[in-house]
Amino acid sequence: MLLNPLNSHPYELLLRKPHGIISIQNIGGWGPHPELRRPTANTGLSRRIPGAIIRPIMSTHASLKVNGQTHVVDVDPNCPLLYVLRDNLALNNPRFGCGLGQCGACTVIVDNRAVRSCLLPVSRAIGKEIVTLEGLGTPGSPHPVQAAFIEEQTFQCGYCLNGWVMSAKAFLDKNPNPSDADVRKAFESLVCRCGSHARIFSAVHRAAADMKRSA
Ligand code: FES
Ligand code: FES
Repeated sequence: MLLNPLNSHPYELLLRKPHGIISIQNIGGWGPHPELRRPTANTGLSRRIPGAIIRPIMSTHASLKVNGQTHVVDVDPNCPLLYVLRDNLALNNPRFGCGLGQCGACTVIVDNRAVRSCLLPVSRAIGKEIVTLEGLGTPGSPHPVQAAFIEEQTFQCGYCLNGWVMSAKAFLDKNPNPSDADVRKAFESLVCRCGSHARIFSAVHRAAADMKRSA
């Protein structure tokens, strides 16, 4: 299902007035405007109107297993996983690029598959093992894929980084001995606007060699 953020209106805004609380429904969808997205850290507080609360009109308790930890969040079941990860769980490595499944910046691994989280309704992630870049390695002990991308000094602005690293991890887990053609084919739908592709492909081959050596 392709979600169109501009046509979705899943939130209401609750304002406290002297005569009581008023509700303004359908304030907007899941677009990047901060007032139209889930408020930070599941507090429900509006980012722009002091004391006002934003909440999903239709909500469910979703139990999500992310990076080995279970989180219960109160969200619209159709909300893209990307927004839940970023806005409810403060996991900000998955990035919003296009919101349409076309760039890969939002990639996470769900049950060992690289998935574009901007297109996956959170309800379809319940009960699955979700891994984000935060769960891959640490600065002191990076995953071999992360270490290879650092060694190759791969990125320029780094906006696309999350998508390439997560996709490379899922790809190499399935295909530890890729040819150059395999790598180019596997990553043809990922976008790097800075044109770092040559160094990205070198990093993937370096990671494959390092992982083979340490296996
Ligand atoms: S933001 Fe998900 S593919 Fe571009
Ligand atoms: S390094 Fe800038 S978009 Fe890839």
